[in-house]
Order: sequence, then structure tokens, then C-alpha cells
Amino acid sequence: MNPALTQFGDQMSRLTGVRAIMKDIIETLQAGSGQEFINLSAGNPVILPEVEQLWRDYTTELLSSSDYGEVVCRYGSSQGYQPLIDAVVKDFNRRYGLKLTARNVLITPGSQTLYFFAANAFGGYTTSGELKQIILPLSPDYTGYGGITLVPEALFAYKPALDIDAPAHRFKYRPDFSQLTITENTGCVLFSRPCNPTGNVLTDDEVRKIAALAAPYNVPVLIDSAYAPPFPALNFTEMTPLFGDNILHCMSLSKAGLPGERIGIAIGDERMIQVLECFQTNMCIHSSRYGQAIAARAIESGTLADIATNVIRPYYQKKFDVVENTLDSSMPKDLPWFLHRGEGAIFAWLWLEDLPITDWEFYQQLKQVGVIVVPGSSFFPGLREEWAHKQQCIRISLTATDPEIETGMQRLAKVVEQVYLKAALS
Ligand SMILES: Cc1ncc(COP(=O)(O)O)c(C=O)c1O
Repeated sequence: MNPALTQFGDQMSRLTGVRAIMKDIIETLQAGSGQEFINLSAGNPVILPEVEQLWRDYTTELLSSSDYGEVVCRYGSSQGYQPLIDAVVKDFNRRYGLKLTARNVLITPGSQTLYFFAANAFGGYTTSGELKQIILPLSPDYTGYGGITLVPEALFAYKPALDIDAPAHRFKYRPDFSQLTITENTGCVLFSRPCNPTGNVLTDDEVRKIAALAAPYNVPVLIDSAYAPPFPALNFTEMTPLFGDNILHCMSLSKAGLPGERIGIAIGDERMIQVLECFQTNMCIHSSRYGQAIAARAIESGTLADIATNVIRPYYQKKFDVVENTLDSSMPKDLPWFLHRGEGAIFAWLWLEDLPITDWEFYQQLKQVGVIVVPGSSFFPGLREEWAHKQQCIRISLTATDPEIETGMQRLAKVVEQVYLKAALS
């Protein structure tokens, strides 16, 4: 049976970005009989015992509570489970001095869904046929943005400016405000902060500037806060979550230990929330209420925020230190390698300037020495222009053990040396 597909069917049945590479990685891991691989490709968070225990405890509490039937055996409101919405409102008002009401919050089945709703409600063709763009102000960014729109031509990403500290072998991406343009043809703006894959954190000023550029055109600015404080608090540098009339603050509980339950949270102006809520009703009615009920308890008690800052953040921050220290001690000093500043998230991002082979070929060579990373070119959704940099980066996951990361980085350093040397000799 080979059903005919519509334009949308064709578009949505393709694997985009990193999902396509994951297929190769899974096949490599399965086929590699006898060969041990150090897998530095994973995006799945580590199961930390304290975090697992937290969710187990709140599940036990839910199971023995009188709410259980109401939570699991009945449909609920599309906007979300009321105690969770109330807990978010209370927590954010207290923490950030806001004046949110329940109408400013929407719960979705994971935050990926939220971006799908927003990308298609605000981006794409208007009723009068004009194309509204979904702007990614700083590329590279989350690979999943490549698959969120039903209208691929709507997605448009901007090349960043680069701050390079050559002697230290470090760099940082910045939004290039000399290029970034937001007009009446913009449908929405979207970026992750902290960023997957680079670990970048846009500064408060940069975020305010982007929001101010979008405000005159009533353009929603979605700040993907999947790694931001207060939970999972995977920021290693100071950052303030920012709110405002046209800002939609989007959170995920996935990196706070609940990826299996699919919980996304949007906070913003009531009119934006209502549009997205209707989209959600049409698409899936509502998110799982079991996950929402345990999340309500963890947020209300303050335990989730505590565990995020005291357990989740230090765990990954220490892993970044291992990557950084091992690269500093084993990478050739005279080659142009640059590690992105580790400001957050669960990845390190390495740029190999003038790499003589593509990132894909480099990934294949690393596989030969038993190390798996993710080639960087999958993280430039919407960036159509040619740019050699797109083929010169790799993403390194911080989810492996310390010894695995150390060995992986030492082997990587050797491969880097050989690749540049071979090119110099040929
Ligand atoms: C930056 C970013 N945004 C969104 C998501 C999707 O998360 P969720 O599980 O909430 O759908 C991820 C997942 O890795 C991510 O890294």
C-alpha cells in the first residue's frame, strides 16, 4: 500500500535535520558488533537519581490522592490542568514580580507542539495570500525548527556575527543586528535561550532589542526556554527570563526529567494564548493530565526549581568543564579550532575553521575511532545562503560519563590533527 500524499503529507512524512542523522547513528550503534562506541550524540537527558525520585514521589502522592480519577479518567480543559496553571502563575508572579493570571498560560504536549502551533498560526500564508515569515534571528539553532512549519518557504534564518577569542580558542555567536530585519511580512520570531546546539545564551539586551524590533509590527517573539531557569535552570551564565507584550515565554519540562510525559508551557499575552489554545483543541484536545498533575505538585512545592539549580545544573556544567579541559590539553595549539562559550544547555559546540573535509566526512572519520558526535550542518534550518561555516562544526553531547567524554575528546583531537595535516601535505 503506497498512499498518495498531499503537499503537507509529503512535507511532514520526511525526517528533518538531526532526525535523519539519528537514523545513521542508531544503525551504526546496532551494526557495530564488537566495536565499542562512545556516543556523544544523545539529546536525551541523563536519568539523574534525585530527579527520578522526585517524579516517583509525586506519582505516589497522586496515586493515593482523591484527585486520581479526575486526573486520569476524564478529559480536561484544552488550556491545561488547572492546578498546574495555578502553580505556574503563582511561581512566576512571585519569582519575577509579574502580574500573570491563569489566562496567560497554556499547557501543551511538549514544547515542540507549541512551536508547531505558533509557526503555523503566525507564519505561512495569510487569508489574502501574503507570506508571513518565521524568523530565526541567529543561526545555528534547534534542528527541530526545521520541521515545524507546513510552509517551508516561510522559515528564514539569519547568519550570526562571530565574537572570536583566537588565543583562547573560544568563540560566541551574536545576533547580527546589521542584517536582522523584522517587518509587516514577519509572522513570528523564534530562538532558543540557552541554545541547542551551541550552548549560547543571548544577553538580556540582545533579547530586548529583538523584542523591540518586533513590537511595532505586533509580531510575537517566542523565546524557547527549554533549558532556561527556573527549571531546568541549565544556564551556566547569569540570565533573566524576559517577559513583555509580544514575548511568548515557552518552557519544557523535558530537560527537568519529564521528556516522556510531554509537557510544554507557554506564558504570554492572553490573545496569543487563545489562538494557540484553539489550535491545540483542534489538534489533540489537551496534553496528558497525569504528567500535568505531577508537574503541578513539583512546581507548587518549589522542589522542581530546587532540584534544577542544585542537581541538574551542576551535573551538566561539570560535564562542560571536562570537555573544555580535555580539549585545551589535547587539541593542537596551532590549528584554528574554536569551542563555543559554554553558557548553558546540554551540549558543547566545536567550530573547526577551514576544516579540509565536510562535517559529515569528519563525523564518519570519528566513527572510525569509535566516537559519535552530531555533524553541525543539521542545525542551520532556514539558513539558505551558502556559508562554509555550516560544514565546519560538530555538536558534542554532555550526557556521557566523564571518562567517556575525556577519551572521546582525546580521540577527536588526534583526528583533527590528522585531517589538517593530510590536507597540508596534499
Ligand atoms: C531547544 C529545544 N526546544 C525544544 C525542544 C523540544 O522539547 P519538548 O520535549 O518540550 O518537545 C528541544 C528538545 O530537545 C530543544 O532542545
